[in-house]
Amino acid sequence: MPRAILVVNGPNLNLLGIREVGIYGCDTLETAEKLCRDAAVKDGFTLDFKQSNSESELIEWIQEARDKYSAIVINAAAFSHTSIAILDALTLTKLPVFEVHVSNIFAREEFRNYSYISSIAKSVVCGCGIDGYVYAVQNAIKCILSAEKVV
Ligand code: DQA
Repeated sequence: MPRAILVVNGPNLNLLGIREVGIYGCDTLETAEKLCRDAAVKDGFTLDFKQSNSESELIEWIQEARDKYSAIVINAAAFSHTSIAILDALTLTKLPVFEVHVSNIFAREEFRNYSYISSIAKSVVCGCGIDGYVYAVQNAIKCILSAEKVV
C-alpha cells in the first residue's frame, strides 16, 4: 500500500481564517495543511493537500486517488450536504474515508446536520476547528497500519 494520504477540501475552505471567523475560527487552510503534513511525516507518510471550489475537480481528484493513496481525508464543505456524485466517487475508490468539518455541523442549521459522506466514512470529526484535520490524519494512519498487520 502506498504510504500516502490525500486530504481534499471543498468550496470556500480556501477562505478559512477570513470567512465567518465566529464559526470557523481564525486559522487558515495553509496552517491546517502544515499540521497535517507534520503529523503524516512523523509516521513516515507523505500527504497531498488540495482544495477546490469546483465539484467536478474534486471528483476528478478523488477518482485519480485510487492507486496513489491509502486513505482520503475529506472536508467536502457544503458539498457534504448535497453531493451524491462525491459520495459515488469516494465509494468507487474503495479507499478508507475520514470525514472532517471545522465547525460542529450538528449544532448549526438543520440542512447541515446530514452529510452523504458520513454514510461511508470510517470516522467523522467535527467541531474541533482545524485540529480536526490532524485527528483525522492520525486516525487514517492508525487504520492503515493496523490493516497492514492483518494482511
Ligand atoms: C464545513 C461545514 C459545512 O456545512 C459548510 O458548508 C462548510 C464548512 C465545516 O468545515 O465546518 O463550508 O464543512
